[in-house]
Amino acid sequence: MKKLLCMLLMGTMTLSLAGCGGSKDDAGAGETGSSSGAESSSEAGSSEEGGSEEIATAQEGKLIMATNAEFPPYEFYEGDEIVGIDAEIAAAVAEELGLELQIEDMAFDAIITAVTSGKADIGAAGMTVTPDREENVSFTDTYAEASQVVIVPEGSEIASPDDLAGKKIGVQLGTTGDIYSADVEDATVERYNKGFEAVQSLQSGKIDAVVIDEQPAKVFVEQNEGLEILPDKFTEEEYAIACAKDNTALVEKINGALESLRESGELDEIVSKYIAADSDSAE
Ligand code: ARG
Repeated sequence: MKKLLCMLLMGTMTLSLAGCGGSKDDAGAGETGSSSGAESSSEAGSSEEGGSEEIATAQEGKLIMATNAEFPPYEFYEGDEIVGIDAEIAAAVAEELGLELQIEDMAFDAIITAVTSGKADIGAAGMTVTPDREENVSFTDTYAEASQVVIVPEGSEIASPDDLAGKKIGVQLGTTGDIYSADVEDATVERYNKGFEAVQSLQSGKIDAVVIDEQPAKVFVEQNEGLEILPDKFTEEEYAIACAKDNTALVEKINGALESLRESGELDEIVSKYIAADSDSAE
């Protein structure tokens, strides 16, 4: 049911985006001598000679992705390689766009700045679409449903998100878990650079609960004994890729790529590689 609504929403977003111009003729030798001059906002169907539809990116030929690789199964290290759902989606999108993906790992709260400053082209980090963030970046269509959940020690007196009032809540700095926990009555929010540091702190009894995204929560609870996830979710959210605010061309290209990955089934394949079907809350 929710999936359907989501798809409808995405459809609307795609339609409204399609309305913002950007003719799709990538024919023609796109030999414009200006490879440096960030050819930003080509407003409504630019009639530039040659009609080169090349996307201006931070570094020519590359798609630079800012992420925080402490967030399994979306992005995490396997040896020295960053893998995960976002890494693979971004690689597939880059391929569709004819660009080479380069992943830059950083603190989660540095990602939006990396994108707005033009150091990175995209932020892909299990990033929830929020109105505040939308003031600084443009999000692509959403590619995943998500939620914040509450992790507690087994047998905790905290049995639902309502019981968080007055408690010590651990979160990853700058995440929606951080933002929304700050609204909990009389609660103290302990901010950690990494989600799993919050979980370790919970395990050693320094805090009462951790509010974090559902999928990493499952991974962390599996890796740490004596913890459980409350059945009632704290929030419902959606993930999307963040692009620079004026970069409509890139948003449209990525939306197109996401759409074809969705249609070909590749998107589902990537997700099911990292999230077991039975643990996926496929309502
Ligand atoms: N979904 C949450 C948010 O957007 C948390 C994302 C954390 N991602 C990460 N790669 N550490 O705020």
